[in-house]
Amino acid sequence: MSDQESNVQRPEDRVIVFDTTLRDGEQSPGATLTAEEKLEVADALVALKVDVIEAGFPAASPGDFEAVQAIARRAKGVTVAGLARANQGDIERAAQAVQPAEDPRIHTFIATSDIHLQYKLHMTREQLLERVAASVRLARSFTSNVEFSCEDATRSDWDFLVQVFTTAIANGATTINVPDTVGYTTPAEYVALMKYLRDRVENIDNAIISVHCHNDLGMATANTLSAVGAGARQVEVTMNGIGERAGNTALEEVVMGLDTRRDQFGGGWTRIEKTRLVPTSRLVSDLTSLDVQVNKAIVGANAFAHEAGIHQDGMLKNRTTYEIMNPTDVGWEGTKLVLGKHSGRAGFRNALKDLGIRLESDDEVNRVYQRFLGLADRKKHVTGADIAALVADHKSSAATSFQLERWNASIGSGGDATASVVILDGTRRMTGDGAGNGPVNALFTAIDAAIGIENELTLYQVEAVTPGEDAQGQVHVRLRAKGQLFSGHGLATDVVEASARAYLSALSKVASGQNDTVLMGSSTSRWT
Ligand code: KIV
Ligand code: ZN
Repeated sequence: MSDQESNVQRPEDRVIVFDTTLRDGEQSPGATLTAEEKLEVADALVALKVDVIEAGFPAASPGDFEAVQAIARRAKGVTVAGLARANQGDIERAAQAVQPAEDPRIHTFIATSDIHLQYKLHMTREQLLERVAASVRLARSFTSNVEFSCEDATRSDWDFLVQVFTTAIANGATTINVPDTVGYTTPAEYVALMKYLRDRVENIDNAIISVHCHNDLGMATANTLSAVGAGARQVEVTMNGIGERAGNTALEEVVMGLDTRRDQFGGGWTRIEKTRLVPTSRLVSDLTSLDVQVNKAIVGANAFAHEAGIHQDGMLKNRTTYEIMNPTDVGWEGTKLVLGKHSGRAGFRNALKDLGIRLESDDEVNRVYQRFLGLADRKKHVTGADIAALVADHKSSAATSFQLERWNASIGSGGDATASVVILDGTRRMTGDGAGNGPVNALFTAIDAAIGIENELTLYQVEAVTPGEDAQGQVHVRLRAKGQLFSGHGLATDVVEASARAYLSALSKVASGQNDTVLMGSSTSRWT
């Protein structure tokens, strides 16, 4: 029996998980993370045991620089990487930001395809090779851990890639990354490219080969896993597959692909703490306001749900008839830990710990605990998902200046709905009445009358945190005001109230000028 079949995990087959949720993931249209939220995601990634956190792109903005530096200071037992274009300013800025990390990495990149050389960079191949040598050398003067990427590698000339990677390694790159920037490659082609590079790049064994795929044709995971089968030993991934356009390769899919079918992928294995997958997915989804589609592999709400009678029958007889993975292994049942109103504060603290949730102070724990008690009064089983949602809501409402003091909405058959609200802004009390074609619409009109901020609602989304009639409702809204976009989310057992909370959270951001674009770490236009 081969090692791959016998489940032996050979050290040389360990696959480094490079998580770029906070950099490429945060480039998702609509993703909005504050510095505080980025730290929270970084903590969750440490608990998930990723090997590398790409914390951001320090040269993009002072906010990004500070977030990367804060993560570099706090995250332990993990490499912290900062992205830098292949130029002196970016590399120095990245070096400064990651410097406090236990193992700082500079990730520098430049595009190598003729399309990018001609239209974007206006450089010759010779000039580019010189730039690669100088950039990697400069990065190496700050840290011994340097990653070099050929942006748009999969549309680049393969012999030129050989030259570029040979140059990068000769100048000290310890990881060479082969991105499929535009999601264009296929598993067979990517495997052939891996082989081409392994056979020709000089001293390739002095560096780890990394892959980074985008999902434009829905092949990101397949391409990444195939490359692992062909010798890549670092995968660049994001939680829930978030990222530019159609997103990046999903961390959870690659981890479970390797875990379940390692025999097919060169024996590759990761040290990811699999039971953290679902809680981390939920945290990222809550904080970025990017929903996970219900049928998403591993972390989607239906990933382990069986509807058809014949499937249910098989499942009852033996789980393995229709399940290739155990939901408990990826954190589903872990998140179903049930707390009730008699669970004490210590039990509550333990639940937070299990969920990978960190609250800054005892006072914060107490405040969320009070909300938990309120929820436990109304809901039979309080699950991990409920607690994760409560914490996310607590954090967002702490930053909300407009607080909902009282509300009322009524609707009868055939007529408009009417609503009234009382809102507190510090000590100022504002009231408003409104009417609309439903209770939510009427309440929003009443809020508009009370606060008077002109805006246009561009997104309204409702989801249940858990199945069941007594589920908490979670609402995400996005609105346009003063020419900019503002997001908010709200949580309550009543969807109308959750809607009002989400709307007030977005309006508070309008009032304090915290628009989505300012909070976003980086956008492509700032670095390509
Ligand atoms: O997709 C890409 O090419 C990137 C690089 C910066 C690695 O994100
Ligand atoms: Zn990318």
